[in-house]
Amino acid sequence: MGFESPAAVVPLLKRLGYESDFKGAFPQEAEPVSPGNYGKALQAYEETLITPAPFDRYLAGEEDALSLEQKEGLKLFSQVGCAECHRGPLLGGRGLRKFGVEKEYWTATRSERKDPGLFESTQVESDRYRFRVSMLRNIARTGPYFHDGSVSDLEEAVQVMADVQLGDRLPGPQARAIVVFLESLTGEVPRHYRKPATVPGVH
Ligand code: HEC
Repeated sequence: MGFESPAAVVPLLKRLGYESDFKGAFPQEAEPVSPGNYGKALQAYEETLITPAPFDRYLAGEEDALSLEQKEGLKLFSQVGCAECHRGPLLGGRGLRKFGVEKEYWTATRSERKDPGLFESTQVESDRYRFRVSMLRNIARTGPYFHDGSVSDLEEAVQVMADVQLGDRLPGPQARAIVVFLESLTGEVPRHYRKPATVPGVH
């Protein structure tokens, strides 16, 4: 995370007054403030940053958690092929896939720069335009969209995906139903979440 070495985090944590918290969290250890424990503490915090959404209540069996239109959108999302790539509990986030299966992505996003994706670091031709499949949790709140933020409207982002990844734009009502379904992935932010600027020592 930008430190010169893992050990460099130790004096910083001590200076910021974290020593007694680390002693409390790792009471058996002679040197509780260590890079390993720093990693464990960060992981434990990040594991609490989940945002349960209506979609989760639906998956748990609560039929009414989604509106009829959202259920229709969910059906379309899997029927037209979105779920081939956006799958798992985060609806994406796992593999890397080509952005531009059916046509060059920048013709649809109007991106100024043609980012070669994974190819930039591997120089392997089959990695050209490969990007991480975005997770779609909280997608209605996290625009602008794509790796370069080239599209700001969610319905347009859905249409770009249909066009570029599946070969054709969708009829308007279908794209809107998918957007309404995607809104069911907006969850509640945990009450203990703090923006980085309000954490001591981070500016
Ligand atoms: C072949 C795999 C594939 C298919 C099929 C696919 N996507 Fe994607 N999707 C991706 C990849 C890869 C990205 C990331 C592109 C980037 O970062 O520029 C992405 C990005 C997105 C984004 C933007 C996410 C963000 O945070 O910026 C949305 C929204 C989205 N997809 C929705 C859909 C919908 C809806 C469908 C079906 C109509 C669909 N996708 C079909 C692979 C796919």
